[in-house]
Order: sequence, then structure tokens, then C-alpha cells
Amino acid sequence: MKKMNEQQLIRLVESLTLEEKIGQLMQLTAEFFDQNSKTVEIGPLKKLGLENDFDINNVGSILNTTNPNDIRFIQQKTLEQSRHKIPLLFMADIIYGMKTILPIPLAQVSSWNMKEIKESAKMMAAECYEMGIHVTFSPMVDIVRDPRWGRVMESPGEDTYLASRYAKAMVEGIQGSVEEQQIPDSHIAACVKHFAAYGAPSAGREYNTVELSEHTLREFYLPSYYAAIQAGAKLVMTAFNTINGIPATGNQWLNRGILRDEFDFNGVLISDYAAVEELIVHGYAEDKTDAAKKAFLSGVDIDMKTAVYANELPKLIEENPELHPLLDTAVLRVLNLKNDLGLFDDPYRGITSTGKTMNKLLSNVHQETALRLAEESIVLLKNDHDQLPIKEKERVALIGPYAKESSTLGFWAITGDEKDTVTLEKGLKKYLSPDDLKVARGSFLLDPETIESYDKYSKDIPAEKRPMNKLMDEAIQIAENSDKIILAVGESVYQSGEGGSRVNPTLPEPQVELIHKMSQLDKPIILVVYSGRPLILTDIESKVDAILYAWFPGTMGGDALANLLMGEVSPSGKLPMTFPRSVGQIPMHYNEFATGRPRSLAPEKYRFASKYLDESNLPLYSFGYGLSYTSFVYHSLKVSSAIIKDDRPIEISIMLENTGNREGKEIVQLYICDVAASVVRPIKELKDFKKVTVASKTTKEVTFKLTEEQLRFHQSSGRYSSEPGKFIVTIAANSTDEGLKTTIIYEK
Ligand code: GLC
Repeated sequence: MKKMNEQQLIRLVESLTLEEKIGQLMQLTAEFFDQNSKTVEIGPLKKLGLENDFDINNVGSILNTTNPNDIRFIQQKTLEQSRHKIPLLFMADIIYGMKTILPIPLAQVSSWNMKEIKESAKMMAAECYEMGIHVTFSPMVDIVRDPRWGRVMESPGEDTYLASRYAKAMVEGIQGSVEEQQIPDSHIAACVKHFAAYGAPSAGREYNTVELSEHTLREFYLPSYYAAIQAGAKLVMTAFNTINGIPATGNQWLNRGILRDEFDFNGVLISDYAAVEELIVHGYAEDKTDAAKKAFLSGVDIDMKTAVYANELPKLIEENPELHPLLDTAVLRVLNLKNDLGLFDDPYRGITSTGKTMNKLLSNVHQETALRLAEESIVLLKNDHDQLPIKEKERVALIGPYAKESSTLGFWAITGDEKDTVTLEKGLKKYLSPDDLKVARGSFLLDPETIESYDKYSKDIPAEKRPMNKLMDEAIQIAENSDKIILAVGESVYQSGEGGSRVNPTLPEPQVELIHKMSQLDKPIILVVYSGRPLILTDIESKVDAILYAWFPGTMGGDALANLLMGEVSPSGKLPMTFPRSVGQIPMHYNEFATGRPRSLAPEKYRFASKYLDESNLPLYSFGYGLSYTSFVYHSLKVSSAIIKDDRPIEISIMLENTGNREGKEIVQLYICDVAASVVRPIKELKDFKKVTVASKTTKEVTFKLTEEQLRFHQSSGRYSSEPGKFIVTIAANSTDEGLKTTIIYEK
């Protein structure tokens, strides 16, 4: 693909009229380019507040058109009718899969397998490429410590290090390696979001205010965006929320000071959906003129889906000619992105000449990639008396609204087709004969009133025709004739995702009733939970023998679950997020500060410690926790030196012994605790991990390198640096596991 050089691009910018330049900073949806009429004279243009004489052919990019024929048509029309002949960019929300839908991101991160995540992102990009999509609004790397927030499902969870590793893997998978300025075939551009700290809304309420100290923002929330940028992400998307009282989409300190200057980001900054205009609603902009000015001066290049830039920037630039260089810089960034995608040479990149896609979509290879990741993303939380895996000849009653449910793709699978989903029943039928597998729905997924309240999504939520008692009777009947019950339960796909905040993140009431009823039958119960978030399982945990947390596992979910339930594969996932015992503990995360009166130092009943009167401080399941069908013992910690220096990292190793009867994968985690520093430091922080496969009855040495860089933090001065002193290093199976410890001293 021929690239234009910098000079040619600059000359192209200089050749554009003011309207053409501003048009490149606009992003609209396809209804403005209706195929059935030459141009859309009224309707959307008017609705958006664009005058009829606005030349639609000046628009720079299109949002969420994913049909290759539409993309070809719109691109062709624009190139024919525009004066400047600059190709359009097509951007879409393909967050975790185009046609082959992967597990939701929170599930993917539960695999802790960055190689598989990168491979899956590469597969996703290849499917997008074939459809003619140029940019995906992924990865979302917002840190989340509050499961009430619905978009936790598309996040990498609570830990900064794990999220940063995920960010890197995703960008490299989507775009190809950072060395190549040009984005290779079968890859597309990644847009990291939402800058910044959208995952920390007060009270877990969607779009709510974010209140973080600058220290917390820099120490815990910004690194994952920076990791994506270091991996070469071509775009960043602004967040809907305020930071320090100023909406991110108009926040100069955030966008120019941190993103552009400190992070040295030279790519495209795009607003979130209508966020430029929302500066008015925030009470930060007087009107659209003010909104355009504040967003533009803060460094936002593209105004997504409003007419604010189109209508207001011409006047602003004409009245302030000194802003022309800022405008030219913004336009040049957009043209650079088009150039990096090779669009000037091939505006139809990826779309085969016939406009039909090759048959790679949902290919066996792609399905296999999704299956592997799904198997590693599912987390075994409980397995009393080794009820799992299902034993030979055991008769299984598969009960619950998720037994046959195909809506298990998660809220952001906008191009996925539920028809392609492998349901749990379908997966199990590959192992169990009709005599050994009986299926019943058992209960509503949601009660009718809740379904009603879900507005336009209500029609997509399966409403049960039969009354609950009939469903329950049928379930009891097959359960009594079985050896083991698999209860397939979960929150609805529509109870998480954007706009999906919940104050009681628990299983829907009808399903809790089903679990209680089944627990009275004195049969072993395996709970399979579908969810977009950590749910509060405290009240039902004791009623079941095993819990397999499926998240929303994507197209291949049923096969992945069946392979795990039947023991073909041993679970290896671990939690990327804390599971609270009670919603009252939220926000809750493993890497908290000690406080001056930690619970751990106080006698059991002592009042004056950092604790609750009515709940434990501990989670139900901790960050980094997950079981396997085998068992591991960590022993023989060795350290190359007790002193670490700038130029002398140390090596720390343990012996990992598989004491069980089958091979297993174990995620060994390395945590540090900086005992004393110029700001308080977390009681422990994940700094590295290794996912290791160990054969039964064998032992493997697992070695970590610890460097001075890993001891650095944001000091009160704002400097990012390490400080000499004592560190406790723990190598453990999860964040509450005692693990193996050693103390090291960092000497300058
Ligand atoms: C949405 C989301 C953002 C998405 C964008 C475009 O509101 O916040 O993540 O990429 O709009 O659909």
C-alpha cells in the first residue's frame, strides 16, 4: 500500500477549505448517507441541527456501519462527490468480536493469558478488516473497583498491572506490532477508551461524577491507558465523566497536559458519543459555541455524532485566526490515521472486490480461538467433594433459564448473532446421551415487571409463558431422577453494559427461588453463573456444591462450559476483580491501604479498628482466586539477593508442585508491599504473574525477575520514582493467599 509522506499530507491539509477541514473532524452515522436517496435532504441532518446546505461529503468518518456493501457504497459516493477525494474512515464498536464473539473483556482477563487475548484480538481485527471496518472502539481499559457499574463487563477489572498487560495485548492484536507505523492487512486501528477513569463513577451509577485525587488517578487509573498508547494505539476516546470538576471532553489539563504532553500521544482524540454537546448539560459550557471552543481547545479532534463542530467551529476559527494551526494539526492527525491505514491508496481496504466477505467469519479456526479463550476465562469458584468434573455415567439434570439460552454474548456484541451461539445444552449434548441429560427451564430469567422496565430491550428478553410453579414442578421432576443437578443461572445480558448500573448486583429473584428449591432435594448442585459483573453470591454460595463462573462466554460458551464440566479441560481462570460479600462493602479492591488501625492488628471483637459491625472486611472471593481440577503446592522460595539496586535486579523463584491426578494450569502471582514510603502504599500490589502448565505429580520452577522500575510509584511531588527501603515480596495463588514471602531491601 502506497503511503503519502508528511509533506504530501501537509499540502493536502493546506488545500482544503475551512468547511472541508472541519468536516474531517466530524463523525456521523450511516443514516445520513441513505442508500435509497442521493442525499438525505431532511430527517437526520435537520434532526442533528445541520443546515440543509451542509455538504455531507465533507464528513471525515462514519460510526457503526458494519456492512461491507454499505461501506463500499458510502465510500464510493463520497469519493465521487467530494471535491477533496479524501476517503472516509469507518469506525465501530467491535469490542470483543465481529461475528465470532469472544468472552466479554472481564472474562478474557480472567484467563490471565495475554497470548490468547492477543490472538483473539487479532482474529477480531481480521473479521473487522473483511467487513471494511478501519477502526474499532476497543480496548476499553477503565479500571473498575465497583461491580454496581454496568460497564464493568467490558473492563479489565480492578488491577492496574493486569489491566495494563491486557491493554498491550489488545492493541498489538488489533493493530499489529507497534514498530510498524502502517497498519498491516487483516489489522485495523485500535481506539483505547475512556480517557479517563470512567470506571470510577460515584456510587457505581452510570455517567456519574468521578472524584479521585490526582495521586489515585495517576497511580491506579491512568497507567492502563498509557500502556495502550505505548503499544501504539492510534486513537483515544474521551470519557463522559468529569475529572477534577471538568468534563473529560473539555478538560485541557487531562487531554493536552497529560495525554498529549506527558504521554506523548500524537494520534486522534475522539469524543465519546455526543459528549461535546453534553458539555452544556454538564454545566461546563454556556452553549454550543462555548462547547465547541472548550472541546476543541482541550484537544478533541473528532466530534462524535453532534453538529457542534460543524456549526460552531467555522465562526470560532474565523473570529480567532490564531486557532488555524490547531485546526490544521487536528485535521493532519485524522489524515495521518487514514494514511496509516493505507486508505489513500486503497479506500476499500479489506473488502473483497465483489463486496462479499471471504468465508473467514466464524471460520473453524476463529471458533477454535474463541473456544480456547472461553475455556481459560471461566473461573471455578467452588468444588466441594470434587463434584466436578461430571463423572462417567452420571445422570445430569440441566436446569435453569440459561440451560438453552443463546443470549450469552454480553451487551456490546452489536454485530454478533445469537443464532451462532453454542448453548450450554448443545455443548453438553456432545458428551451426554438423551438418557443422561434431561433439561428444564426451572424459572423465569427475570420477573415480568423487571422485563417491562427495560424499555426497548424488553422485547429481546425471553418472557416465560408458563407460570413459575409449573416451571419448578418440571424441574423438580427431572432433578429427582438425576444423580447431579447443573443449575444454569445468571443476570440478563441487559442487566450489565452501558446504562446497566445495579444497586443490588445479585441473581434475579426467580432464580434465587429456584436455587433454594433445588437445594432441598439433597442432590449435588453445580451452579453455572452467567454474568457481566461480580455478583453478590453470599446467600446462595452455601446451597450449592460447586460454582463455575461463566461471565458471558461468547459464541463458543456452551462448548467451553461442557468441556470444563465434563473434565475434558481443567479450569484455569482466576478473578480479575474482587467478589464482595455484601454490596455495603463496595467499593472494594485487594490493593487497599492499611489505614492506621487495620482490622488484622486488632483483637477479634475490638471496636476501634477499620471494620464493620455487621459484615466481615473480607470478600467472598478475592482478586486472583480460582480453582482447578488438580491441586498445587508452592514451596522452596529462593531469591538471588536480598538487595535490589538500580542496575541489579533480583530473581525470585518458587517450586510449583502439581499434587493432583491431572495436568493443570496455575496462575502464579507476584505481589509486593512497600513497607514505608513518602505516600502510603497498598498492602499488596500485583507486579507480575505467570500462567504455568504442570503435569500431574511433577514440579516446575517458576522464576520472576524483580527490577527497580517495578518499585516505582507516583510520589507526593508528582515524580514517578522508587524510594530506598524495605519491601515484602509474596508469591501466591491469589491476593489473600498467605503464599511464600521474602523481604528485600532496595538500595539506591
Ligand atoms: C457509547 C460508549 C462508547 C462507544 C460510543 C460509540 O456511548 O460510551 O464506549 O464506543 O458510544 O458507540
